[in-house]
Amino acid sequence: MTKINMPDYDIVVGHHEMDKIESYVKDFYHFDQVFILTDDHVFALYEEKIQSWFNTFDVKVCVIPHGETSKSYQVYLSAIEDLIKQGIKRQHLLIALGGGVVGDLAGFIASTLYRGVPFMQIPTSLLAMVDSSIGGKVGIDLDLGKNLIGSFYQPKKVIIDPMFLSTLPLEEYQNGMAEMIKSGLIGDKDLYHYFMDHRTVTEKEIIQTIQVKRNVVLIDPYDKKERMFLNFGHSYGHAIEKKTAYKKYKHGQAISYGMLIALQKGISLNITPSYLYEEVKQILLKNSLVKEPLLEAIDFEDELKYDKKNMADGFHFILIENVGKAVIKKIKIG
Ligand SMILES: NC(=O)c1ccc[n+]([C@@H]2O[C@H](COP(=O)([O-])OP(=O)(O)OC[C@H]3O[C@@H](n4cnc5c(N)ncnc54)[C@H](O)[C@@H]3O)[C@@H](O)[C@H]2O)c1
Repeated sequence: MTKINMPDYDIVVGHHEMDKIESYVKDFYHFDQVFILTDDHVFALYEEKIQSWFNTFDVKVCVIPHGETSKSYQVYLSAIEDLIKQGIKRQHLLIALGGGVVGDLAGFIASTLYRGVPFMQIPTSLLAMVDSSIGGKVGIDLDLGKNLIGSFYQPKKVIIDPMFLSTLPLEEYQNGMAEMIKSGLIGDKDLYHYFMDHRTVTEKEIIQTIQVKRNVVLIDPYDKKERMFLNFGHSYGHAIEKKTAYKKYKHGQAISYGMLIALQKGISLNITPSYLYEEVKQILLKNSLVKEPLLEAIDFEDELKYDKKNMADGFHFILIENVGKAVIKKIKIG
Protein backbone atom coordinates (compact mmCIF):
# COMPACT_ATOMS: atom_id res chain seq x y z
CA MET A 1 0.00 0.00 0.00
CA THR A 2 1.23 3.51 -0.80
CA LYS A 3 0.02 6.66 0.90
CA ILE A 4 0.32 9.94 -0.99
CA ASN A 5 -0.15 13.04 1.13
CA MET A 6 -2.10 16.03 -0.08
CA PRO A 7 -2.35 19.17 2.09
CA ASP A 8 -5.72 18.25 3.69
CA TYR A 9 -6.10 14.51 3.10
CA ASP A 10 -4.33 11.47 1.76
CA ILE A 11 -4.63 9.18 -1.21
CA VAL A 12 -4.24 5.46 -0.50
CA VAL A 13 -3.28 3.21 -3.41
CA GLY A 14 -3.14 -0.56 -3.21
CA HIS A 15 -4.68 -3.82 -4.31
CA HIS A 16 -7.49 -4.97 -1.99
CA GLU A 17 -7.45 -1.76 0.05
CA MET A 18 -11.26 -1.90 -0.32
CA ASP A 19 -11.22 -4.77 2.15
CA LYS A 20 -10.07 -2.23 4.76
CA ILE A 21 -12.49 0.49 3.73
CA GLU A 22 -14.47 0.47 6.97
CA SER A 23 -11.43 1.19 9.09
CA TYR A 24 -10.32 3.97 6.69
CA VAL A 25 -13.76 5.57 6.99
CA LYS A 26 -13.88 5.18 10.76
CA ASP A 27 -10.55 7.05 11.07
CA PHE A 28 -12.28 10.32 10.27
CA TYR A 29 -16.03 9.61 10.47
CA HIS A 30 -18.13 8.69 13.49
CA PHE A 31 -21.72 8.23 12.31
CA ASP A 32 -23.57 5.00 11.46
CA GLN A 33 -24.89 5.92 8.04
CA VAL A 34 -22.90 6.39 4.84
CA PHE A 35 -24.31 7.59 1.51
CA ILE A 36 -22.87 6.24 -1.72
CA LEU A 37 -23.34 7.80 -5.14
CA THR A 38 -22.61 5.42 -7.99
CA ASP A 39 -23.75 4.70 -11.55
CA ASP A 40 -25.86 1.81 -12.81
CA HIS A 41 -22.88 -0.01 -14.44
CA VAL A 42 -20.75 0.05 -11.31
CA PHE A 43 -23.72 -0.74 -9.07
CA ALA A 44 -24.67 -3.80 -11.13
CA LEU A 45 -21.12 -5.12 -10.83
CA TYR A 46 -20.45 -4.31 -7.18
CA GLU A 47 -23.86 -4.29 -5.44
CA GLU A 48 -23.11 -7.28 -3.22
CA LYS A 49 -19.58 -6.12 -2.51
CA ILE A 50 -20.87 -2.73 -1.35
CA GLN A 51 -22.87 -4.45 1.39
CA SER A 52 -19.87 -6.48 2.55
CA TRP A 53 -17.35 -3.63 2.35
CA PHE A 54 -19.61 -1.40 4.50
CA ASN A 55 -20.95 -4.22 6.64
CA THR A 56 -21.12 -2.31 9.94
CA PHE A 57 -22.65 0.81 8.38
CA ASP A 58 -26.23 1.55 7.41
CA VAL A 59 -25.58 2.09 3.69
CA LYS A 60 -27.82 4.24 1.49
CA VAL A 61 -27.11 4.13 -2.23
CA CYS A 62 -28.08 6.66 -4.89
CA VAL A 63 -27.68 5.21 -8.39
CA ILE A 64 -27.46 7.49 -11.43
CA PRO A 65 -27.44 6.45 -15.11
CA HIS A 66 -23.91 5.92 -16.44
CA GLY A 67 -22.30 8.34 -18.88
CA GLU A 68 -21.45 12.01 -19.32
CA THR A 69 -25.13 13.02 -19.63
CA SER A 70 -25.44 12.41 -15.90
CA LYS A 71 -23.12 15.36 -15.21
CA SER A 72 -26.16 17.61 -15.72
CA TYR A 73 -28.14 19.91 -13.44
CA GLN A 74 -31.17 17.62 -13.91
CA VAL A 75 -29.32 14.61 -12.48
CA TYR A 76 -27.61 16.85 -9.91
CA LEU A 77 -31.05 17.93 -8.59
CA SER A 78 -32.64 14.49 -8.73
CA ALA A 79 -29.67 12.88 -6.95
CA ILE A 80 -29.78 15.55 -4.22
CA GLU A 81 -33.51 14.98 -3.74
CA ASP A 82 -32.96 11.24 -3.55
CA LEU A 83 -30.16 11.64 -0.97
CA ILE A 84 -32.29 13.98 1.15
CA LYS A 85 -35.23 11.57 1.02
CA GLN A 86 -32.88 8.77 2.08
CA GLY A 87 -31.95 10.85 5.13
CA ILE A 88 -28.62 12.57 4.40
CA LYS A 89 -27.79 15.24 6.98
CA ARG A 90 -25.08 17.84 7.06
CA GLN A 91 -22.42 15.74 8.84
CA HIS A 92 -23.08 12.58 6.82
CA LEU A 93 -20.43 11.23 4.51
CA LEU A 94 -21.07 11.12 0.76
CA ILE A 95 -18.90 8.56 -1.06
CA ALA A 96 -18.32 8.70 -4.83
CA LEU A 97 -17.94 5.13 -6.10
CA GLY A 98 -17.39 5.22 -9.85
CA GLY A 99 -15.64 6.89 -12.73
CA GLY A 100 -15.00 10.58 -13.29
CA VAL A 101 -18.66 11.34 -13.94
CA VAL A 102 -19.70 10.01 -10.53
CA GLY A 103 -16.71 11.69 -8.85
CA ASP A 104 -17.30 15.11 -10.40
CA LEU A 105 -21.05 15.00 -9.72
CA ALA A 106 -20.79 13.59 -6.18
CA GLY A 107 -18.10 16.15 -5.36
CA PHE A 108 -20.25 18.99 -6.64
CA ILE A 109 -23.24 17.70 -4.66
CA ALA A 110 -21.01 17.42 -1.57
CA SER A 111 -19.72 20.97 -2.02
CA THR A 112 -23.21 22.50 -2.33
CA LEU A 113 -25.65 20.31 -0.36
CA TYR A 114 -26.21 22.04 3.00
CA ARG A 115 -23.24 24.26 1.97
CA GLY A 116 -20.94 21.26 2.22
CA VAL A 117 -21.02 17.66 3.44
CA PRO A 118 -17.93 15.47 3.95
CA PHE A 119 -16.94 13.61 0.82
CA MET A 120 -14.75 10.66 -0.13
CA GLN A 121 -13.60 9.37 -3.51
CA ILE A 122 -13.38 5.70 -4.50
CA PRO A 123 -12.50 5.90 -8.21
CA THR A 124 -13.28 2.79 -10.26
CA SER A 125 -12.14 3.78 -13.78
CA LEU A 126 -8.48 4.19 -14.70
CA LEU A 127 -9.08 7.81 -15.67
CA ALA A 128 -10.71 8.56 -12.32
CA MET A 129 -7.85 6.82 -10.45
CA VAL A 130 -5.08 8.82 -12.10
CA ASP A 131 -6.84 12.08 -12.88
CA SER A 132 -10.35 13.12 -11.90
CA SER A 133 -10.28 11.99 -8.26
CA ILE A 134 -7.12 14.05 -7.63
CA GLY A 135 -7.02 17.81 -7.27
CA GLY A 136 -10.46 18.78 -5.99
CA LYS A 137 -12.12 20.02 -9.18
CA VAL A 138 -15.79 19.04 -9.10
CA GLY A 139 -18.67 20.10 -11.30
CA ILE A 140 -21.31 19.49 -13.92
CA ASP A 141 -21.85 20.29 -17.60
CA LEU A 142 -24.31 22.55 -19.38
CA ASP A 143 -25.62 22.09 -22.93
CA LEU A 144 -23.34 25.06 -23.76
CA GLY A 145 -20.20 23.20 -22.73
CA LYS A 146 -18.49 20.81 -20.35
CA ASN A 147 -17.63 21.60 -16.73
CA LEU A 148 -19.14 25.09 -16.89
CA ILE A 149 -20.48 24.94 -13.32
CA GLY A 150 -18.23 23.75 -10.55
CA SER A 151 -16.06 24.40 -7.57
CA PHE A 152 -12.93 23.25 -5.80
CA TYR A 153 -13.82 20.85 -3.01
CA GLN A 154 -11.41 18.45 -1.39
CA PRO A 155 -12.35 14.93 -0.27
CA LYS A 156 -11.57 13.58 3.21
CA LYS A 157 -9.80 10.63 1.60
CA VAL A 158 -9.24 8.95 -1.77
CA ILE A 159 -8.96 5.15 -1.88
CA ILE A 160 -7.59 3.71 -5.11
CA ASP A 161 -7.90 -0.03 -5.49
CA PRO A 162 -6.70 -1.26 -8.91
CA MET A 163 -8.86 -4.36 -8.39
CA PHE A 164 -11.71 -2.34 -9.95
CA LEU A 165 -9.85 -2.33 -13.28
CA SER A 166 -10.60 -6.04 -13.75
CA THR A 167 -14.16 -5.16 -14.83
CA LEU A 168 -13.37 -1.97 -16.76
CA PRO A 169 -14.09 -2.25 -20.52
CA LEU A 170 -10.96 -2.06 -22.72
CA GLU A 171 -12.01 1.20 -24.35
CA GLU A 172 -12.33 2.87 -20.94
CA TYR A 173 -8.97 1.42 -19.91
CA GLN A 174 -7.32 2.92 -23.00
CA ASN A 175 -9.05 6.21 -22.23
CA GLY A 176 -7.22 6.33 -18.91
CA MET A 177 -3.95 5.29 -20.57
CA ALA A 178 -4.10 8.39 -22.80
CA GLU A 179 -4.01 10.64 -19.72
CA MET A 180 -1.14 8.56 -18.29
CA ILE A 181 0.92 8.89 -21.49
CA LYS A 182 0.22 12.64 -21.34
CA SER A 183 1.39 12.75 -17.71
CA GLY A 184 4.62 11.01 -18.68
CA LEU A 185 5.22 13.53 -21.47
CA ILE A 186 4.64 16.57 -19.27
CA GLY A 187 6.20 15.39 -16.04
CA ASP A 188 7.82 11.96 -15.78
CA LYS A 189 10.32 10.54 -18.26
CA ASP A 190 10.27 7.02 -16.75
CA LEU A 191 6.50 6.87 -16.86
CA TYR A 192 6.52 7.89 -20.54
CA HIS A 193 9.19 5.32 -21.42
CA TYR A 194 7.16 2.57 -19.74
CA PHE A 195 4.52 2.98 -22.46
CA MET A 196 7.03 2.31 -25.21
CA ASP A 197 6.70 -1.42 -24.58
CA HIS A 198 3.70 -1.95 -22.29
CA ARG A 199 0.00 -1.89 -23.03
CA THR A 200 -1.30 -2.38 -19.51
CA VAL A 201 -0.45 -0.54 -16.32
CA THR A 202 0.35 -1.61 -12.78
CA GLU A 203 -0.01 0.07 -9.40
CA LYS A 204 3.45 1.63 -9.93
CA GLU A 205 2.41 3.62 -13.02
CA ILE A 206 -0.87 4.63 -11.38
CA ILE A 207 1.16 6.08 -8.49
CA GLN A 208 3.62 7.80 -10.86
CA THR A 209 0.74 9.44 -12.73
CA ILE A 210 -0.88 10.62 -9.51
CA GLN A 211 2.47 12.12 -8.47
CA VAL A 212 2.66 14.13 -11.71
CA LYS A 213 -0.81 15.55 -11.07
CA ARG A 214 -0.07 16.10 -7.38
CA ASN A 215 3.08 18.09 -8.15
CA VAL A 216 1.25 20.40 -10.52
CA VAL A 217 -1.82 20.79 -8.27
CA LEU A 218 0.32 21.66 -5.25
CA ILE A 219 2.02 24.51 -7.12
CA ASP A 220 -1.24 25.78 -8.62
CA PRO A 221 -4.27 24.52 -6.65
CA TYR A 222 -6.74 26.92 -8.32
CA ASP A 223 -5.74 26.35 -11.93
CA LYS A 224 -4.19 29.74 -12.68
CA LYS A 225 -1.00 28.74 -14.46
CA GLU A 226 1.09 25.55 -14.02
CA ARG A 227 -1.98 23.36 -13.76
CA MET A 228 -2.52 24.19 -17.43
CA PHE A 229 0.30 21.73 -18.20
CA LEU A 230 -2.22 18.98 -17.51
CA ASN A 231 -4.06 20.26 -20.56
CA PHE A 232 -1.32 19.17 -22.95
CA GLY A 233 -3.13 17.83 -26.03
CA HIS A 234 -6.46 19.07 -24.71
CA SER A 235 -6.83 22.25 -26.82
CA TYR A 236 -7.13 20.37 -30.08
CA GLY A 237 -8.57 17.41 -28.15
CA HIS A 238 -11.51 19.51 -26.98
CA ALA A 239 -11.85 21.07 -30.44
CA ILE A 240 -12.06 17.56 -31.97
CA GLU A 241 -14.63 16.45 -29.40
CA LYS A 242 -16.71 19.59 -29.92
CA LYS A 243 -16.63 19.50 -33.71
CA THR A 244 -17.67 15.83 -33.70
CA ALA A 245 -20.43 16.50 -31.12
CA TYR A 246 -18.71 14.33 -28.45
CA LYS A 247 -19.90 11.23 -30.34
CA LYS A 248 -17.18 10.05 -32.69
CA TYR A 249 -14.15 9.94 -30.38
CA LYS A 250 -13.68 9.01 -26.75
CA HIS A 251 -11.96 11.74 -24.74
CA GLY A 252 -8.72 9.71 -24.61
CA GLN A 253 -8.70 9.34 -28.40
CA ALA A 254 -9.42 13.03 -28.98
CA ILE A 255 -6.59 14.15 -26.69
CA SER A 256 -4.28 11.61 -28.34
CA TYR A 257 -4.80 13.29 -31.72
CA GLY A 258 -4.47 16.59 -29.84
CA MET A 259 -1.11 15.54 -28.38
CA LEU A 260 0.23 14.68 -31.84
CA ILE A 261 -0.91 18.04 -33.20
CA ALA A 262 0.71 19.82 -30.23
CA LEU A 263 3.95 17.90 -30.83
CA GLN A 264 3.91 18.97 -34.49
CA LYS A 265 3.36 22.57 -33.42
CA GLY A 266 6.26 22.33 -30.96
CA ILE A 267 8.53 20.87 -33.66
CA SER A 268 7.62 23.64 -36.11
CA LEU A 269 8.60 26.20 -33.43
CA ASN A 270 11.88 24.38 -32.68
CA ILE A 271 10.73 23.69 -29.13
CA THR A 272 9.98 19.96 -29.34
CA PRO A 273 12.66 17.48 -30.48
CA SER A 274 11.60 16.17 -33.88
CA TYR A 275 12.01 12.41 -33.09
CA LEU A 276 9.27 12.63 -30.48
CA TYR A 277 6.33 12.89 -32.88
CA GLU A 278 6.94 9.50 -34.51
CA GLU A 279 7.70 7.85 -31.16
CA VAL A 280 4.49 9.08 -29.50
CA LYS A 281 2.50 8.24 -32.64
CA GLN A 282 3.65 4.61 -32.46
CA ILE A 283 2.68 4.39 -28.76
CA LEU A 284 -0.77 5.81 -29.48
CA LEU A 285 -1.30 3.57 -32.53
CA LYS A 286 -0.38 0.47 -30.50
CA ASN A 287 -2.94 1.38 -27.86
CA SER A 288 -5.71 2.03 -30.43
CA LEU A 289 -5.85 5.65 -29.32
CA VAL A 290 -5.32 7.02 -32.84
CA LYS A 291 -5.75 5.60 -36.34
CA GLU A 292 -4.18 6.54 -39.66
CA PRO A 293 -4.87 8.75 -41.51
CA LEU A 294 -4.42 11.06 -38.52
CA LEU A 295 -6.64 14.09 -37.95
CA GLU A 296 -5.33 17.40 -39.32
CA ALA A 297 -5.00 20.50 -37.12
CA ILE A 298 -6.45 22.76 -39.83
CA ASP A 299 -9.84 21.05 -39.65
CA PHE A 300 -10.31 21.99 -36.00
CA GLU A 301 -8.71 25.46 -35.79
CA ASP A 302 -12.07 27.31 -35.79
CA GLU A 303 -13.08 25.65 -32.54
CA LEU A 304 -9.98 26.95 -30.73
CA LYS A 305 -11.39 30.48 -30.68
CA TYR A 306 -13.73 29.40 -27.88
CA ASP A 307 -11.09 27.63 -25.82
CA LYS A 308 -10.49 29.24 -22.42
CA LYS A 309 -6.76 29.20 -23.12
CA ASN A 310 -7.41 31.67 -25.95
CA MET A 311 -6.68 34.74 -23.83
CA ALA A 312 -6.33 38.45 -24.48
CA ASP A 313 -2.56 38.08 -24.98
CA GLY A 314 -2.77 35.09 -27.34
CA PHE A 315 -3.50 31.39 -27.23
CA HIS A 316 -1.65 29.69 -24.39
CA PHE A 317 -0.42 26.44 -25.96
CA ILE A 318 1.15 23.69 -23.91
CA LEU A 319 4.18 22.32 -25.73
CA ILE A 320 6.77 19.71 -24.87
CA GLU A 321 10.34 20.95 -24.58
CA ASN A 322 11.65 17.51 -23.69
CA VAL A 323 10.09 14.33 -22.40
CA GLY A 324 9.03 15.20 -18.84
CA LYS A 325 9.10 18.97 -19.38
CA ALA A 326 6.21 21.07 -20.67
CA VAL A 327 6.19 24.80 -21.43
CA ILE A 328 3.45 27.34 -22.15
CA LYS A 329 3.84 29.45 -25.31
CA LYS A 330 1.59 32.28 -26.36
CA ILE A 331 0.60 32.05 -30.02
CA LYS A 332 -1.81 34.33 -31.88
CA ILE A 333 -4.58 32.44 -33.64
CA GLY A 334 -7.59 33.47 -35.77
N1 LIG B 1 -12.29 16.65 -11.86
C1 LIG B 1 -11.24 16.55 -12.65
O1 LIG B 1 -10.15 17.07 -12.35
C2 LIG B 1 -11.37 15.76 -13.91
C3 LIG B 1 -10.21 15.39 -14.64
C4 LIG B 1 -10.39 14.59 -15.77
C5 LIG B 1 -11.66 14.19 -16.17
N2 LIG B 1 -12.74 14.58 -15.45
C6 LIG B 1 -14.09 14.16 -15.83
O2 LIG B 1 -14.16 12.74 -15.73
C7 LIG B 1 -15.21 12.29 -16.58
C8 LIG B 1 -14.73 11.07 -17.32
O3 LIG B 1 -14.43 10.06 -16.39
P1 LIG B 1 -14.44 8.52 -16.81
O4 LIG B 1 -13.64 8.35 -18.03
O5 LIG B 1 -14.14 7.72 -15.61
O6 LIG B 1 -15.95 8.33 -17.29
P2 LIG B 1 -17.21 7.62 -16.62
O7 LIG B 1 -17.36 8.00 -15.21
O8 LIG B 1 -18.34 7.88 -17.54
O9 LIG B 1 -16.80 6.09 -16.68
C9 LIG B 1 -16.64 5.48 -17.92
C10 LIG B 1 -17.51 4.21 -18.02
O10 LIG B 1 -16.88 3.18 -17.29
C11 LIG B 1 -17.82 2.59 -16.38
N3 LIG B 1 -17.04 2.11 -15.24
C12 LIG B 1 -16.37 2.84 -14.32
N4 LIG B 1 -15.71 2.03 -13.50
C13 LIG B 1 -15.94 0.77 -13.89
C14 LIG B 1 -15.49 -0.51 -13.47
N5 LIG B 1 -14.62 -0.66 -12.46
N6 LIG B 1 -15.96 -1.60 -14.13
C15 LIG B 1 -16.80 -1.46 -15.20
N7 LIG B 1 -17.24 -0.30 -15.66
C16 LIG B 1 -16.81 0.82 -15.01
C17 LIG B 1 -18.81 3.68 -16.09
O11 LIG B 1 -20.04 3.14 -15.66
C18 LIG B 1 -18.92 4.36 -17.45
O12 LIG B 1 -19.82 3.66 -18.27
C19 LIG B 1 -15.56 13.45 -17.50
O13 LIG B 1 -16.79 13.99 -17.11
C20 LIG B 1 -14.45 14.46 -17.26
O14 LIG B 1 -14.87 15.79 -17.43
C21 LIG B 1 -12.61 15.34 -14.33
